[in-house]
Amino acid sequence: MLQTRDLTKVYNETVMAVNALNLTVNDGEIYVVLGANGAGKSTTISMLLNFIEPTSGTALIGDIEIPKFPLEAKRHLAYVSENVELYRNFTARQNLAFFAKLGGRKKVSNADLDATLGRVGLPEAAFTRRVKTFSKGMRQRLGIAIAMMKNAQAVLLDEPTSGLDPKGGADFLNLLRDLREEGKAIFMSTHDIFRAKEIADKIGILVAGNLERELTREDIAQENLEALYLRYVAGYEPAEEDSE
Ligand SMILES: Nc1ncnc2c1ncn2[C@@H]1O[C@H](COP(=O)(O)OP(=O)(O)O)[C@@H](O)[C@H]1O
Ligand SMILES: [Mg+2]
Repeated sequence: MLQTRDLTKVYNETVMAVNALNLTVNDGEIYVVLGANGAGKSTTISMLLNFIEPTSGTALIGDIEIPKFPLEAKRHLAYVSENVELYRNFTARQNLAFFAKLGGRKKVSNADLDATLGRVGLPEAAFTRRVKTFSKGMRQRLGIAIAMMKNAQAVLLDEPTSGLDPKGGADFLNLLRDLREEGKAIFMSTHDIFRAKEIADKIGILVAGNLERELTREDIAQENLEALYLRYVAGYEPAEEDSE
């Protein structure tokens, strides 16, 4: 379980990027935080990963306080960014081996590596190809393979599907479903309502650092998410059908 408690970030003592955020991502659950550019999505994820320090409040992975025990917490957290950082001159297999080691795995056989690369849908011919020849979709798959290899309890993803084509995006969401099946707590940001709707067990609507609304699976099925989101994000009210 991943949890934030009044998690707050103020940049330069003036910019309220994340305002007293309280949310819980249970194991086996995909939580999607939906928000426009500048809503505070990346800031939230950066605090959960200890890339930046909260101004106040805290976050937990299981019962470990993330800002207080960064090294211990890090072992239980995997990260997939919008642009997965890889070694361009390494092959897919070499990248995976490198990051597995970095993540604390001692002995990883080529068979283990290849099984994971296969699992994320990379074609076998790509295992030994340099990553600089990969498309964005292939790099994102490798990013997920790295996260899977780490076998962390929580997986955090910052706009992982932005820039993927529809097929690539759909395939990627299926990989997240696999991780959910394994009981991981998955926290993903996006500004894409349709992807959010498709994959989320819970959606949080973040507007200017405030969690304005949280929707469960049932809410998502019942509500008109587009209209709701626009209302929160832009203060936009759709025109009445029969108004004079
Ligand atoms: N390093 C920083 N210094 C100052 N302000 C920042 C910094 N990073 C982000 N911000 C500001 O914090 C707010 C939230 O940004 P961010 O978390 O990147 O939003 P999102 O990922 O939802 O687009 C924005 O107003 C942004 O300009
Ligand atoms: Mg961002």
